[in-house]
Amino acid sequence: MMAITLIYLFVFFHVCFFFVSSSLSDFSILDYNFDSDPFKADYSPPSPPPPSPPPHPPSLTCHELQGIGSLNTTCQLNYNLNFTRDVYLEGTGNLFILQGVLLSCHVPSCSLTINITGSLELKANAKILAGSVYIVAGNASFISGSVINVTGLAGDPPEQSTGTPKEYQGGGGGHGGRGASCVMDNKKLPEDVWGGDTYSWKSLEQPFSYGSKGQSTNKEDNYGGNGGGKIWLDVKDIFDACGTLLADGGDAGIKGGGGSGGSIYIKSKKMIGGGKISASGGNGFAGGGGGRVSVEVFSRHDDSEFFVHERCRSHAYLQEDQL
Ligand SMILES: *[C@@H]1O[C@H](CO)[C@@H](O)[C@H](O)[C@H]1NC(C)=O
Ligand SMILES: *[C@@H]1O[C@H](CO)[C@@H](O)[C@H](O)[C@H]1NC(C)=O
Ligand SMILES: *[C@@H]1O[C@H](CO)[C@@H](O)[C@H](O)[C@H]1NC(C)=O
Ligand SMILES: *[C@@H]1O[C@H](CO)[C@@H](O)[C@H](O)[C@H]1NC(C)=O
Ligand SMILES: *[C@@H]1O[C@H](CO)[C@@H](O)[C@H](O)[C@H]1NC(C)=O
Repeated sequence: MMAITLIYLFVFFHVCFFFVSSSLSDFSILDYNFDSDPFKADYSPPSPPPPSPPPHPPSLTCHELQGIGSLNTTCQLNYNLNFTRDVYLEGTGNLFILQGVLLSCHVPSCSLTINITGSLELKANAKILAGSVYIVAGNASFISGSVINVTGLAGDPPEQSTGTPKEYQGGGGGHGGRGASCVMDNKKLPEDVWGGDTYSWKSLEQPFSYGSKGQSTNKEDNYGGNGGGKIWLDVKDIFDACGTLLADGGDAGIKGGGGSGGSIYIKSKKMIGGGKISASGGNGFAGGGGGRVSVEVFSRHDDSEFFVHERCRSHAYLQEDQL
């Protein structure tokens, strides 16, 4: 039987060093009334509609990547590459990132876009590291041990979002879930003391927002963890997902809140392989909130492991709809 599987993951847990409180654990996102406010607090306005492909520089060639072949036939990359600015790769062929090869742009919001008609293969222990990884491919195969990692490399979250708490109290960043706060306030109920707000409600099905920074415990030093980056995977036919996709929030020390998780969107006709997919909040004085993960596949075969929790102890809420 063919089925369209839609999965959204959210967290509404509140965890920190001093206490653990949970609320809204029975909350289903599909029942959510966007006009009401269950948190009795302002959360940020919705983000704009699903993104059009990000603007990109001209495509690099296989040769410029020190690879063998051509992006219009098959390009094989066998050398680590360390980029310092946005990268765009386009072609009508295949791209193989060979065993153990690292493509890295370790700069917040640095984007790596791969747009190929054929197959993208990440061989064993191949790694892509950037702030935003946007992939369009005919087929994609991420072998066990391969990693796409945008952890802690967020650029700016959507305008007007308030994912970073205002007060310098070391609160966690918010995004899919609220950040935690570890400040004791006798005048408030524990569930009213939060870190950063949630945002991007309008793009739940196609999340593509950065996570937010956690806040520092003092104004002078920037101790908060950075938000998680974003991963977009649009695979025409088969996505063999044995590798790991990480869009976690960055960790902070004990003097700052963890960053919130970023976004992961996967669209494919068929998804196989049970890799790990995570957009969790970072650790810190107070933990960052979870990010967003959405998987839209026509037929799904093996179960991936999903993580979108707030750091420390928490529980992810998973909604799976077979249409
Ligand atoms: C991918 O490349 C095609 C041309 O081959 C172009 O039409 C399309 O806009 C590109 N997509 C992205 C996301 O850049
Ligand atoms: C690949 O093919 C496209 C058209 O399909 C062409 O514009 C581009 O120059 C070719 N690139 C290379 C490296 O041959
Ligand atoms: C990549 O380049 C940056 C700056 O040019 C440098 O700080 C970093 O160590 C390099 N990383 C690797 C893995 O070579
Ligand atoms: C994806 O892989 C399948 C099976 O190997 C193949 O039949 C199909 O043509 C491929 N799709 C693309 C777009 O390359
Ligand atoms: C992902 O990136 C983060 C931050 O750069 C790093 O701490 C972590 O070890 C990486 N994880 C993997 C599996 O590469």
